[in-house]
Amino acid sequence: MLEIERSLVLIKPDAVRNGQSDEIISRLKKLGLKMAARKTLRMDRALAEKHYAVHKEKPFFKELVEYMTSAPIVAAVFGGEKAVAKIRQAMGATDPAKAEAGTIRADFGLNVTRNAVHGSDSVETAEKEISLFFTGDEIAAT
Ligand code: RTP
Ligand code: MG
Repeated sequence: MLEIERSLVLIKPDAVRNGQSDEIISRLKKLGLKMAARKTLRMDRALAEKHYAVHKEKPFFKELVEYMTSAPIVAAVFGGEKAVAKIRQAMGATDPAKAEAGTIRADFGLNVTRNAVHGSDSVETAEKEISLFFTGDEIAAT
């Protein structure tokens, strides 16, 4: 049986401002995944703190929340077989300087904070994250 997974993708402020959203989405579609929802929004502090709650004790938490709330982002839901792992691989390492050539972060990331994209790191976190950003009505079946 095909296991269809979903993943939440966030295109971070610099990539949105630099007009790279469509190119990033097109790379993800080329993985054979379907985009089930997409919207542009400005995250508020409460949403950013919830989305990154797992990092709240980390030294970079404050900078991360400030960055993610600083300007509009694009949030999208992608679905398909092995969506979580495929997207993580296409994104590359957290630090763009260490990301493999040809990955989204290697091509569009500016530094470890301003690293162009977020992708869910497991099926469980994906479902939690999706529910923070989208209502059921906003998401097409994949
Ligand atoms: P993401 O959650 O955004 O998909 O990224 P990730 O799994 O590759 O990295 P994670 O460890 O979950 O960190 C979340 C985001 O925090 C920022 N960060 N800054 N200054 C630092 O050392 C540092 N480390 C992480 C990045 O924006 C990272 O994507
Ligand atoms: Mg993460």
